[in-house]
Formats: sequence, structure tokens, C-alpha cells
Amino acid sequence: MKNSVRAYAPATVANATSGFDVLGFALQEPGDIVVCRHSDESGIKILPLTGEYKDLPTDPRLNTAGVAVQALLDSMHLSAGLELEIQKGVPIVGGMGSSASSAVAAVVAVNELLGLSKSPVELLPFVLESEKAATGVPHADNAAPSLLGGFTMVHSLDPIDIISLATPENLACALVHPDMHIKTKDAREILPPTVLMETATRQMGHIAGFVTGLYTEDMDLIARSMKDELAEPYRGRLIPGYQQVKEAAVESGALGAGISGSGPSMFALCPSSKVAEKVGESMQQVFQESGMDSELYLSPISQMGAHILD
Ligand code: HSE
Repeated sequence: MKNSVRAYAPATVANATSGFDVLGFALQEPGDIVVCRHSDESGIKILPLTGEYKDLPTDPRLNTAGVAVQALLDSMHLSAGLELEIQKGVPIVGGMGSSASSAVAAVVAVNELLGLSKSPVELLPFVLESEKAATGVPHADNAAPSLLGGFTMVHSLDPIDIISLATPENLACALVHPDMHIKTKDAREILPPTVLMETATRQMGHIAGFVTGLYTEDMDLIARSMKDELAEPYRGRLIPGYQQVKEAAVESGALGAGISGSGPSMFALCPSSKVAEKVGESMQQVFQESGMDSELYLSPISQMGAHILD
């Protein structure tokens, strides 16, 4: 029996502009690492966080990794004593799927340590429990790509039906995280409860165009389809320089740009890694002009989701 297992789960970009709560994709980096060990004490113990970001509770009922692992153990009527060490590389409340990535890494590590043999999709419901605890809604557009890698589509949550989509080879992401926080719960509360039929119809065209563009590797179609008429018209107001960041990204060669998840990070999809470098710099420059420091992450779309490191 293994004494300890280390798992990595990548940061993710949810919504990907046209697919609110439906589309998402995985970055190669940053990501969270969770080390899981057996413990003589019963229950889940979370050690003080290590890594770049540490400001999260260690009470397992208040930490997404703890909530997800508890849900997994409960579902199998297990009462194993487990110790979790979270090395947090994904910024907290940054719009990069941070709550999902530590929960995903934790359930993947526990799955391996206890020999549960669950597939990534079978682990998803437990991560959704933690997403619900963190944001009030069990959205899967961060958890699914973090578990599976690549672009994913949430076709249905009840029953769970997740589709892995095609990922054009050279597509690269520039993601800029400005020095501010937006809680997903708050960013959801400002959205209207209903939309006009004509808005919904246009948005269906955008997501259908985007997914078709992924499969046909039609960069122009991807570019024409990167539009969000559901969330960004409301959430954009929360991010200083939002419109200018989008425009700067496209002027520098991005196919399109938008809010990553519920923000405040903004991302751009680019036809190559080289273009992504230039795009990222111009996005950062706009944030700087709005008086905000930012962190730039450049990454290909990772085909690999969460995995065991050892
Ligand atoms: N789809 C979710 C939202 C993602 O936009 O609220 C949150 O990371």
C-alpha cells in the first residue's frame, strides 16, 4: 500500500467567452499540487498551506479540497484518516478555477492512495459538491477541464454528461491576472435571472460557431465566435479597463479575448505561443494604465488534465 500520493491539477479558463457555464479549457500551468497521506487520526486533516498562495482555511469543511474528499469518502461509506498537504499555485479568487483545482488534485490523489479506481468523470460529482459550497452553484466548467484537460463542454449536469472537445494544436492562451479580487458568488449575483429570446438565439450561434471552429481548426470562425452576451455585459463593469484590454489583445493578434471564468483575470486565445507573448504584454500594459499591477501567464491549452506526479 502506498503511504503518500502527489497529484497535480491545472488552472482552467471557464466560459471561454461564448460558453457561459458550459465551455472551459485547461492551462498547462499554473496548477495546484495536493499530497495525500494516510493518518492514524480519523477524518480529514488539512496541513497549513504551502506554495505561492496560502490564504485559505485548513478546516476541511471550509476548504474545497476537504469538502470534495469528504463527499468522495461519504459516497463509499469510508472513514479513512487522511492528511492533505495543498501546494497552491493557482491564485485565489482570480477567475482561474482555483477552488476547483485544489479539489480536483485532492480527489485524484485520494482516488490513487485508496485504490478506488474511479475515472476522472466519476470524480466530478465530488468536486461539484465543493464548487457548490464555494460559489453557491455546482458549475462544472472549471472542474471538468481540470480533471480531463483540453477543451470540455458541460452538456448536462443532471445527469452528468461532459464532452471532451477538439483542441487545435497551436492554440495558446495569454492570461492576465490583475491585482484585484472578484468572488464568483458576487459575480453571479449581478447577472439577470432571465435573458431575451433574441439574445439567447445569438449566443447559441456564438457557441455553435466556436465549437465548430475548434473541430475544423478554423481560426477565423473561432475569432468571430468569441462573444459573450450573457455575462460579460454585466461583469465587464467590475474590471477597470475591461473593454480596452479586449481591444488591445485583438489588436496584438489574438483571435479574441474575454473574462476568464468570473474574473477578474482576462484571457486571450492566440494562434501561436509567440503571438500570445505579445498579446499578454499589451493586455498587461492596459491594466497598468488603469493603475493596476498584474501577473501574466502564458500557456498552451493543456491536453492533459489532473494526474499523479509520482
Ligand atoms: N461559469 C462560472 C461563472 C465560472 O462564470 O460564474 C466561475 O469560475
